[in-house]
This record gives sequence, structure tokens and C-alpha cells, in this order.
Amino acid sequence: MTELFIRGIGEGTDVVSKEMYTFLDRGERSCTLRPEGTASVARALIQNGISSNPLQKLWYMGPMFRYERPQAGRQRQFHQLGVEFIGYESVRSDVEIIALAWDILGKLGIQELNLEINTLGDINDRLNFQKSFVNWLEKNKNSLDLDSQNRINKNPLRILDSKNIQTKKILENAPRLFNFLSEKSLKRYSNLKKQLEVLNIPYLENQNLVRGLDYYTHTAFEITSGALGTQSTVCGGGRYDDLIKQMGGGNTPAIGFAIGLERLILLAGKELGVPRNTDIYIINQGLIAESLAINLSRKLRNYDLLVELDLSGASFSKQFKRANKLKSKSIIVIGDDEATNNVFKIRLFNEESFGNREETISFANDTKLENWLKTNLL
Ligand code: HAM
Repeated sequence: MTELFIRGIGEGTDVVSKEMYTFLDRGERSCTLRPEGTASVARALIQNGISSNPLQKLWYMGPMFRYERPQAGRQRQFHQLGVEFIGYESVRSDVEIIALAWDILGKLGIQELNLEINTLGDINDRLNFQKSFVNWLEKNKNSLDLDSQNRINKNPLRILDSKNIQTKKILENAPRLFNFLSEKSLKRYSNLKKQLEVLNIPYLENQNLVRGLDYYTHTAFEITSGALGTQSTVCGGGRYDDLIKQMGGGNTPAIGFAIGLERLILLAGKELGVPRNTDIYIINQGLIAESLAINLSRKLRNYDLLVELDLSGASFSKQFKRANKLKSKSIIVIGDDEATNNVFKIRLFNEESFGNREETISFANDTKLENWLKTNLL
């Protein structure tokens, strides 16, 4: 429901005001293709009456939709892997979430990663800052770019994120949210930094990091990579202590992040781009052989092997050629003779001495098959 995203993400945000795919369904209800997952997770928790169950660790992966200008690393339909840690207020959960995001990207071998962090304080800190910031903006309105002028009353905090060079320069003299943070919020933030240091996770502080969604409180973070170009943020997240309550649930602090999978693939391209060779190519001929082959391929795929089943009915020599072209590590041959005897032949394909390691295995002998796979492929 469109209402969910307006309430959850915030009316003045770019996502809600410019980027949603919204339509009326046949029952005249306003629906929206989800632009992100956090508001929906909050909704699901509340609707199922579990928003106040302590400590839930949730994740999701799927398509999201935003009407943005497409370019490299920015699509109108993209995919997110999201993680939400619900019900925990302590800085430890911030650290666990940030470390998880950092480690996922690190383990995938992604280079040139930067973690940027900021704190947005709690609601009171923000209101105090906003008053004085809006005052200052009104005074300096004429020096701001048009987009920022329009945001003064709608969503002033987003002006801090402006990419306009002149606006950026003028903002250097604006009041800073950081100076309006309460003792408690400041302490929380310095605690977070200390714990990141203990874990040896390097971070950069970026006081202009406000994120494009209204629900954040305290910790906001992004992980960028220099290798990505202009759309450099591969992961964004933060704490949203008021969202679930504000949407009708219990008082439930939470923190999470989402990784953009298309950007991740761009980054991991080199590592993930190596095509996996076929493990086993099944050569077969004749009706009975074919159905035995299909059955066998299903069995083999249970071992997470890349199995290519030739169903062309072509001559053996053509099928051999295809196996060769695919650089298959091994082949299975099932011809008329094999089918009649209920067996198949299996051997490594690149073996110099042809047939050296060839084995004949009965279709019923799963142990022998598994032993062969263990010795040669697994
Ligand atoms: P977000 O920063 O709007 O946060 O999106 C997270 C990530 O999704 C971005 O860092 C980026 O990698 C990817 N992404 C966003 N828009 C696009 C696009 N148009 N094309 C390709 N990739 C894109 C959220 O959505 C929050 N729900 C994250 C979160 C979870 N905060 C707390 N919990």
C-alpha cells in the first residue's frame, strides 16, 4: 500500500515524492512497487504481532523499484540484500550490523572499500537543530540552488546532501547537527567509534551523510567503493528506533542495512566473472538411454555439480565435440549397450590416456558413483 511508504520513508524524501511507481489497482486502492524493504519489514512485524518480541534477526533479498535516471550502477528495478536487527538498543547491535556488512563485502574480495559513518541524534536533537537550520536557510535562501530552496519547508535535512557546488560551499557556514546533539547521543556515537576501532574496522566520519530516508536516528552509515564511479554506494544503512512505534507497533529500536546487488556484481565482476566449467557432460543415445540420463542428471545435481545433459540425439562424435567445447571436466556415456545392462560409463575428459580412469557403474550403485565423484570432482 502506498500509504506504508509515505508514512515509513517520509513524504518529503526523494524516494516518496519523485521515485515511486504508484498505481491504482482494480479496487481503486493506491499501490506502490516497493522502493525498499525496511518499511515493509516494520509493517510485517506489526501486522503479525511480533514487533515487540525481543531480538529478531531478519534478512530479505529481492527486487526494488525506483523511478530514477538510469545509468551505470543505477537501475529502475534493482535488487537488495537487506538485514534488519530488531529490538536491540545497545551500540553493540550497531557494531554487529556494521561489521556484518563490512565482512560480507570483504569476504567477497571487494577492494577499495570505505565505511562512512555519521550520527543523526534522536528526534529531539533533530528538532532542535532543524529550528535553527531552517532559520539560517531562510536567511540564505537566495544563495541556494532551486532544489534546495524547495526543500527548506519539505525536508531541510536533505539539503545537507546537496551535490550543488555553490550550495555545498555556502553550507560550510550553516549550523551543524553535530552541535545540537545531547550528551547521551554524543556518548553513544563515541562509543560506536571506539568499538569499531577495537574491531579494526576503519571508518571515515562524514557529517553530511544524512541518507535519503527519513526514519533514521543516531547511527547512519554507507559503504562506498572507489571502483564504482559516481554511484559509489554499495551498502547503506542505519538505526531506526522510532519507525516501528511510529507505524503503530511497540517501542522497538532497530538497525539494518541493504546492499545493492547490481552494484555488488559490478564490483565483484572480476571475482564472480570467471565462468564455471561444466563438471559432467552426459552423452547419450536412444530412448531408454535418454530417460536414464535425465534421471542421472537429477541425482548428480544434488551434489551441486554443473551437469550438462545432451538431449540432441546427435551422433556420439558430435556430442563428444560439444563436451570438449564446454571444457567439461568429465563425461558420462550411455549408449544402447549400457542402457540394456543398466549401467553407464564415466571418466575424466582431459585424461591423456583415453579410458584410463573409466569406470562402469550400475545405475543402482549410488555408493560407487559417490566414491567416484569424491575422488575426481568433489
Ligand atoms: P538505500 O541507501 O536507499 O537504503 O539503498 C541501499 C542500497 O541499495 C544502496 O546503497 C545501493 O547499493 C542500492 N540501490 C539503491 N537504489 C538503487 C538503484 N536505483 N539502482 C541500483 N542500486 C540501488 C535502503 O534502501 C534502506 N532500506 C537500507 C536499510 C535497511 N536501512 C536500514 N535497514
